[in-house]
Amino acid sequence: MKALVLAGGKGTRLRPLTYTIPKQLVPVANRPIIHYVMDQIAGVGIRDVGVIISPDTGSQIKEALAENPWRFNFSFILQEEPRGLAHAVMVARDFLGSDPFLMYLGDNLIGQGIEAFVEEFRQSKPEAMILLKEVADPRMFGVAEVDCDGKIRRLVEKPKVPPSNLALVGIYLFSPFIHEAVLEITPSFRGELEITDAIQKLLDRGKTVRSFILERWWLDTGKKDDLLEANRVVLDELVRESLQGEVDGGSRVAGRVFLARGARIEGSTVRGPAVIGKGTIVRNSFIGPYTSIGNGCVVEGSALEHAVILDGARIAGIARLEDSVVGRNAVISKGSQNSQALRLMVGDDAEVLL
Ligand code: TTP
Repeated sequence: MKALVLAGGKGTRLRPLTYTIPKQLVPVANRPIIHYVMDQIAGVGIRDVGVIISPDTGSQIKEALAENPWRFNFSFILQEEPRGLAHAVMVARDFLGSDPFLMYLGDNLIGQGIEAFVEEFRQSKPEAMILLKEVADPRMFGVAEVDCDGKIRRLVEKPKVPPSNLALVGIYLFSPFIHEAVLEITPSFRGELEITDAIQKLLDRGKTVRSFILERWWLDTGKKDDLLEANRVVLDELVRESLQGEVDGGSRVAGRVFLARGARIEGSTVRGPAVIGKGTIVRNSFIGPYTSIGNGCVVEGSALEHAVILDGARIAGIARLEDSVVGRNAVISKGSQNSQALRLMVGDDAEVLL
């Protein structure tokens, strides 16, 4: 079995971060999202991994995977334009050959391993198998109608009247038959070749498509609040206490805090779960739970909570910053003079709520 990871796309909903960083490399608990995806694939013993990349961000994706602790045989496959998930399958045709494959959207995080999902596919050998998750409001997702036996009856994209509350998580298993189905579909109203349409073609031809219900959490990191929520959940579940950096005598570190080598905490309180990256300095500040601070940042005289701060950012004199995402090398600083005026240099598509 091979794996196909989709790391192309535009990431428009996560602008301005995605002007400079592909969505799949945005950090959650200081690790790029795509690294969690690769951990999952390694967990089911797959070795050959194709990665769909775009012309704009492909080199960054390659660089982020270059260390390759998973020892995968990577094939990078260029998709000239983001013409849809089924289009990604088409451009990966040569790589996939006649093998069954796991298709994984590179911006999806789930709270459990996929061993049981892959094992059931290997045993029951359907034409396709899709991972589903019960959601409160299925109207903004692809939704599946499933019979009592776990077979899929029908798929609908963003239905006004959903046939169930089972949404399609972006993780699929396919037999090579899908290559015929993707050739039969036409672009949807949003101009994309939809994988749901290709799976529907399998159903129309009487092929078996099975479902597997995800019990634990699923987070699609498409928007700012999703990213903060992913950060919260991952910090909660995965961070173990490890203080590799320095904490001075005037500081207090409580709870599960990962402090990377070369980071320094001076005269501050850090309350976990939190991660603080290499070479970051936290001085006279309070770092509250659910905060991830990247590498080479400076936080001074500030209080942060439930925030994701990317590499090289500087935050000074901010009484309280919460529910926030701060991009690379951004500066948020309160001047010393008691002026009410705000002095801003805000990038395209930024959001500043005062
Ligand atoms: P989406 O979130 O559906 O699309 P997007 O990344 O373009 O984001 P936005 O809607 O904010 O503009 O994509 C899901 C995943 O699949 C994501 O990791 C990008 C990837 N993808 C491709 O690799 N090729 C494609 O043609 C599309 C549509 C998505």
